[in-house]
Amino acid sequence: MSQEPPHYRVSRIARELEAQGRDVIHMEIGDPELDTDPRIIDAMCRAAREGHTHYAPARGVKPLLERLVDYMESFIKPGFDLSTENIVVTPGSKVAIYTALRLLRPRRIYVVEPMWGLYHSFASEIGIEVVPIPTRMEDGWEPRGAIEGIGKGDAIAVVNPNNPTGTILSEEAVEMIVEAVSRADAYILADEVYFDLIYRGSMTSFLSMGYEKVLAFYTFSKNFVMSGFRVGWVVSPSRELANNFLNRLRLIVGGPPPFSQYGAAEALTLREVLERNRRFYIETLGYSVDRLREMGFKFVEPSAGMYIFAKPPVEDMDGVEFTYRLLEEEAVALAPGTGFGNYPEYVRLTTALKKERLEEAFNRMERFLERL
Ligand SMILES: Cc1ncc(COP(=O)(O)O)c(C=O)c1O
Repeated sequence: MSQEPPHYRVSRIARELEAQGRDVIHMEIGDPELDTDPRIIDAMCRAAREGHTHYAPARGVKPLLERLVDYMESFIKPGFDLSTENIVVTPGSKVAIYTALRLLRPRRIYVVEPMWGLYHSFASEIGIEVVPIPTRMEDGWEPRGAIEGIGKGDAIAVVNPNNPTGTILSEEAVEMIVEAVSRADAYILADEVYFDLIYRGSMTSFLSMGYEKVLAFYTFSKNFVMSGFRVGWVVSPSRELANNFLNRLRLIVGGPPPFSQYGAAEALTLREVLERNRRFYIETLGYSVDRLREMGFKFVEPSAGMYIFAKPPVEDMDGVEFTYRLLEEEAVALAPGTGFGNYPEYVRLTTALKKERLEEAFNRMERFLERL
């Protein structure tokens, strides 16, 4: 996989088409078409006016750290005594993941695929060998069989709930991964950014397994629709590991802007905003599931997040060609499955679009399929 993830390439082409005057519908990027709640924006502005415009405390501002402890505990049961010392506020989770890889410098990173492509890009940029652990739609995207060969100092990265499939690993799968990793004394990078966007079933967090060598990633980008604020957080059961992470992050960035952090702290007091956003995701996902089924796409119905990872109902055409032809002919941008591992037959669709745009996107897709 090249360093430019395929959906970035699709976005670039889409922007070129837009520059030519085409009306492109963007289903390749995971940025919801929802507005940030005005109370969050007000809190951010208020904080800036009150003088929170300097370097922020390295770990994060106090009210945010304190509220994060309660917020997390309302969704997951940590297997340790979670305090602000286990948490580091980060400028979004991308930087956090990159910093974690730089800090741990694993010789190899095992990735449970399909997997959000940035891990592959970061590994190739840093020079870490990627070892895929492929899963299949027929198995509900659950890993089958033991994880072999993982050694001391290696790491395993797991996105759960998953981007791109929207599925949630069973407790047995999480236990199996922790077992293999703890036997090898390796690290777990647990990307749990969709932990509060679960609509069916529940998840087993890697923080609840009693294993210390875990860095888990979270963000305000999707749940509270704050991707431009650049605020996320990292949690580790090991305060030492959290501190090492903090020290490495400080070298690179002095913490997220404090006013963004105050906006995030406000968001955590507005559970009805989370509920409103969840309803939007549930509705747009549900509508998309129906439309894709009618067209004959094959997929596992997502239980979380905002994506569908599906096999288009086409012969003699893989997901890459499907993506580029759909973009060229009908100006609908998707992410090809090759951006998530060796899944050339698949495409990923972001469904968090306004209803009219979503409807229009599927109408265009239908028209495209009828012409084939
Ligand atoms: C699985 C996963 N992890 C991390 C991120 C990064 O989020 P951010 O950098 O906005 O916090 C995303 C964004 O799409 C994601 O899907």
